[in-house]
Amino acid sequence: MAMRKIHLTAAHADADYDILIGTDLCDGAATFAAEKYRPHACTIVTDSNVAPLHADKVAAALQKVGIEPLVCVIPAGEEHKNIQTLQHIWDFLLQHRWERRMPIFALGGGVVGDMAGFAAATVLRGVPLIQMPTSLLAAVDASVGGKTGIDHAMGKNLLGTFHHASLVVADVNLISTLPRRELQSGLAECIKHAVIADANMFAWLERHLPQILHFDPASLAELIFQNVSVKANIVAQDPYEKSIRAHLNFGHTFGHALEKVVGYDKLPHGYAVALGMLAATRLSIGLGRCEPQLLPRLEHLIRAAGLPMTVEGYDPRAVLSAMYSDKKVASAKLRLILPVKLGQVTIASDVPEASVIDAIATVTTVGAVSA
Ligand SMILES: NC(=O)c1ccc[n+]([C@@H]2O[C@H](COP(=O)([O-])OP(=O)(O)OC[C@H]3O[C@@H](n4cnc5c(N)ncnc54)[C@H](O)[C@@H]3O)[C@@H](O)[C@H]2O)c1
Repeated sequence: MAMRKIHLTAAHADADYDILIGTDLCDGAATFAAEKYRPHACTIVTDSNVAPLHADKVAAALQKVGIEPLVCVIPAGEEHKNIQTLQHIWDFLLQHRWERRMPIFALGGGVVGDMAGFAAATVLRGVPLIQMPTSLLAAVDASVGGKTGIDHAMGKNLLGTFHHASLVVADVNLISTLPRRELQSGLAECIKHAVIADANMFAWLERHLPQILHFDPASLAELIFQNVSVKANIVAQDPYEKSIRAHLNFGHTFGHALEKVVGYDKLPHGYAVALGMLAATRLSIGLGRCEPQLLPRLEHLIRAAGLPMTVEGYDPRAVLSAMYSDKKVASAKLRLILPVKLGQVTIASDVPEASVIDAIATVTTVGAVSA
């Protein structure tokens, strides 16, 4: 399979890097590190699920170009995206006498990417970061755009900073071992990208979903290419989320609140985003701001991807209250991303609470009409 490349440049944001998509890309990532930084060692930060599957390949590639690979394994799971795990990464790096020119490889899903990225941003006031996403979500979303961080008891991703990678390598061989549930979770972000930016991509997804669900490498590579194109284009226009980058939060204000109320261990991020997109779309149609024909196509695609249509038995008012504690709520006003039609969304901060509650109820009420 031919490798594909997207270049991301964001003026004044210290972002100027390639995103490589294809198969067998570990050697290329190691060569990049060797030629650009000439380090004697690199640390591969990875998690306890990904380490036994893929760390050896990356370590071998580094050894081939004369770099000593150090492997820092963190426990897998969102519940470990916290200050204790970050402290472990900091200790590991400092105990190995880290130097400014020594890159960190983030080999894993979005949790590894966000935490290794935060460590890279902070140790010695910043060292190079190479993102090697192994989940679909990390490949199409978390590894691109420079957001890094950890969770706090008060909520997800409340602590962090921007630190762009100097290279992102999405190798579909690494992604092929992803559990199906995690593939589906990543698909929710792909559906989100299509709704906010690209009607043709939505139609492509409708046609190619069966191959994607079977981990067909060419379809996965094309999916990642299309999605990174959308995300990179938005990040390049608005690297610090002052305007259009907020569109990427479609489904997320509802989704984050649902995750918080239902429990992060019970509701994967992408599942929550799928429910959030359904609620936001129904809300937008109810307010007369969205073409009604979007809803049946969205519902069909979400269902076909194996994503949930409801998470029943939760009080919509509890979800609304969690929406207010999301960090993306500007000055105590709910700021929602609402679809207008396929490929177009708008930002709304004038939506009546009663309408928001009704929209939440369509995904949380027992027996809610979901299609
Ligand atoms: N920085 C950003 O812009 C951004 C954007 C979106 C999401 N995120 C963050 O990303 C995280 C979610 O990412 P995620 O869904 O990748 O979660 P994750 O990192 O927890 O990965 C999901 C699960 O899949 C496992 N896994 C990953 N790759 C695997 C592989 N190839 N084979 C087998 N198992 C594998 C992991 O060990 C984990 O158990 C959240 O913390 C979210 O806040 C960040």
